[in-house]
Amino acid sequence: MINGRTQLFGIIGNPVEHSLSPAMHNAAFAALGINGVYIPMRSIDLREGFSGLRALGFIGVSVTVPHKVAVISLLDEIDPVARKIGAVNTLLFQKQPEGRPLCKGFNTDWLGSNQALAEELEPKGHTVLIIGAGGAARAVGFGLIEAGARILLTNRTESKGRELASQLGCPFIPTADLPTIQADALINTTSVGMAPLDQALPISPELLANFPVVMDIVYAPLATRLLQEAAARGCRTIDGLKMLQYQGAAQFKLWTGKDAPGAVMRNALLAELGGR
Ligand code: ATR
Repeated sequence: MINGRTQLFGIIGNPVEHSLSPAMHNAAFAALGINGVYIPMRSIDLREGFSGLRALGFIGVSVTVPHKVAVISLLDEIDPVARKIGAVNTLLFQKQPEGRPLCKGFNTDWLGSNQALAEELEPKGHTVLIIGAGGAARAVGFGLIEAGARILLTNRTESKGRELASQLGCPFIPTADLPTIQADALINTTSVGMAPLDQALPISPELLANFPVVMDIVYAPLATRLLQEAAARGCRTIDGLKMLQYQGAAQFKLWTGKDAPGAVMRNALLAELGGR
């Protein structure tokens, strides 16, 4: 029930219609009896949108495409790992005794990917091959370093891959050399395999046996062809909804101070996806 004391949360981006986050966070508020609401907010003008959020007393806001980098210049404070990644996906507004609320920016994508991986493999001390060199690869890569993993990186466009690998301080593996590579886990951070091109694979399936754990960030379909091919070769697999769920859980903790109800959030994500 929304009333005069309802706390405000939401997601700002363009587009936001596809976002699964409202279903996930609103289900979590309901499960814990928190008087809060999380709404989608399509915003073309980030600066105006941001001022509005601060002026209207929002507490926590997710930031999505295309604002994750540009929002950094509007923050009062930024988390050190988010600064390294160069992207912020979570805002926390803190009321001050006087004056306007302070806004601190975080990136919970890396926390989400580490926690998702940890369901099958603790990142620390293990070697992980990352496929991709976009924004998602940056968050996953810096996150793995933060957790004490060793990483290798491969990407279709070599120049882009080499650039990110050098920023991460890790080796770049050209596609032609992939057959020589073994690692404890593989993470696909590209959109390859997403519907409607769901038969595409980001790596040759015969190489998957070299990676005991295979994680995908694509979640539509949930059982991507990559995960199916991996499972058929005896690999343990982690679906793309896990990263989304755990990054949301990290946001929930930052905003409410409470542990997120994991099963509730996962079920809300599955129901929302299933209804589409
Ligand atoms: P995001 O921010 O979501 O990570 P991005 O910055 O557009 O998105 O990055 C997309 C990544 O997916 C890149 O690594 C891209 O490879 P290129 O650098 O070669 O473009 C990768 N990618 C997208 N489509 C691909 C495809 N069909 N085959 C291989 N890699 C692909």
